[in-house]
Amino acid sequence: MPSRAPQAQGAQAAGARRGVPLRGPRARGERERGVPAAATLEAVARYWGRGVRRRRGGLRPPRASARCALVMVTKERPYHLVVFGASGFTGQFVAQEVAREQVVLEQSSRLPWAVAGRSREKLQRVLERAALKLGRPTLPSEVGIIICDTTNPASLDEMAKQAAVVLNCVGPYRFYGEPVVKACIENGTSCIDICGEPQFLELMYWKYNEKAAEKGSYIIGSSGFDSIPADLGVIYTRNKMNGTLTAVESFLTIHSGPEGLCIHDGTWKSAVYGFGDQSHLKKLRNESNLKPVPIVGSKLKRRWPVSYCRELNSYSIPFLGADVSVVRRTQRYLLENLEQSPVQYAAYVTVGGITSVIKLMFAGLFLLFFVKFGIGRQLLIKFPWLFSFGYFSKQGPTQKQVDASSFTMTFFGQGYSQGVSPEKNKPNMRICTQVKGPEAGYVATPIAMVQAAMTLLKDISDLPKTGGVFTPGAAFSRTKLIDRLHQHGIEFSVISSSEV
Ligand SMILES: NC(=O)c1ccc[n+]([C@@H]2O[C@H](COP(=O)([O-])OP(=O)(O)OC[C@H]3O[C@@H](n4cnc5c(N)ncnc54)[C@H](OP(=O)(O)O)[C@@H]3O)[C@@H](O)[C@H]2O)c1
Repeated sequence: MPSRAPQAQGAQAAGARRGVPLRGPRARGERERGVPAAATLEAVARYWGRGVRRRRGGLRPPRASARCALVMVTKERPYHLVVFGASGFTGQFVAQEVAREQVVLEQSSRLPWAVAGRSREKLQRVLERAALKLGRPTLPSEVGIIICDTTNPASLDEMAKQAAVVLNCVGPYRFYGEPVVKACIENGTSCIDICGEPQFLELMYWKYNEKAAEKGSYIIGSSGFDSIPADLGVIYTRNKMNGTLTAVESFLTIHSGPEGLCIHDGTWKSAVYGFGDQSHLKKLRNESNLKPVPIVGSKLKRRWPVSYCRELNSYSIPFLGADVSVVRRTQRYLLENLEQSPVQYAAYVTVGGITSVIKLMFAGLFLLFFVKFGIGRQLLIKFPWLFSFGYFSKQGPTQKQVDASSFTMTFFGQGYSQGVSPEKNKPNMRICTQVKGPEAGYVATPIAMVQAAMTLLKDISDLPKTGGVFTPGAAFSRTKLIDRLHQHGIEFSVISSSEV
């Protein structure tokens, strides 16, 4: 079981732990972006200071031997990117997105890449379909094929040795993810996944963070729709507030066309097993025994399970995906490593009118009841369409459904202007931002994953100094990922910002 606490990196983190205020260019840079106000820094410094008992064997600096740079492509390591699980429903779209990215890049910067999976025939078919769709008949001959199975560790090593970054699309991650993480770390390869399962993501951090730092591997989870819009959306909101952001509520709205919505059952399986195993996640969190992140400013009030959002003119329910877990881990990382004031976060999804609320509540109760029993889980997995009221199917969405779908995530933030102490006052600043994008699962997710990978390859100097197991926000908060996403159709914008 996990026995290690996260690493605190950098000399300034040590300063903040002793209660020393931030100085120097980085501190100035953070303030210019409207990050920690003086009063907030006091709260942050107190987090590290006297009176707070630190865990035994707690926060410590990275090992001196940790390597700093991402491995580069060589004759022995021929591929920048390898899409593992390219034969899966999501993997095929990720492969197409990599092929698109290859065209966008200038002639001078090649992007050698490969697809990997269990069946050569399936992988070849994926490349042929991509060639047809993108009008690039030569594509299948330009892309490598690696045969590899998660049950065969040697095949995973072989794959990892050939790649700078593995894009892992093989899920549910609780069953198939760990051997891939292990093989990547052993071989100094970086890995990005699109996992939405908090238990897997948190467990990988506890088990492999130090080893990944030693080996210089960047293991970055949840880099799909779960949870790049939420995690980077909070960071964007913080950067855009002219003061200190202390709390954010996000509301996800999914838009669909006349043919409605559908999600492939790969995601359904991950959700069923995830909800069925909540007790292990609780146990993991209890055993990790982390000190709570301090609350800066007014405490964010929890909404009722069904609440009305006046601004969006819609009922909303809590969002049960990985976003809250991921954003909180990012906020902890940013506090502990960059001394940024932590932001409280809650996630909701809008569900329209009261009829949808009732329908969704029944679906939710059904799911939560059935996942508790083995036979219930088997039934849910066997008949996704029936038990999800048509939202999940073994065939996945049609192209028409994909084309007509999109998402909007709206962030309502509150905070304090410069010079106003969060300790004694109510928030006096409000900000509303949005992240908008195309269909979430099979368009936005491949874009987010591939742009995360491009950021890893290109923005090396803005990544954390050593490898490790990261959330997207922890890895990319100082990179150009938001700009890249914006250029690829996942748009970040400020809707309003005011002092109250
Ligand atoms: N973050 C997000 O927003 C988001 C969006 C979409 C999907 N996802 C996640 O992505 C994952 C995949 O979903 P999906 O719908 O694409 O599922 P899927 O169609 O069932 O694809 C699973 C893939 O895993 C491969 N695979 C299974 N067992 C393997 C093994 N032992 N060794 C090697 N490969 C193996 C399959 O290969 P074969 O073809 O050989 O069977 C297939 O390529 C799920 O965990 C889902 O939750 C996340």
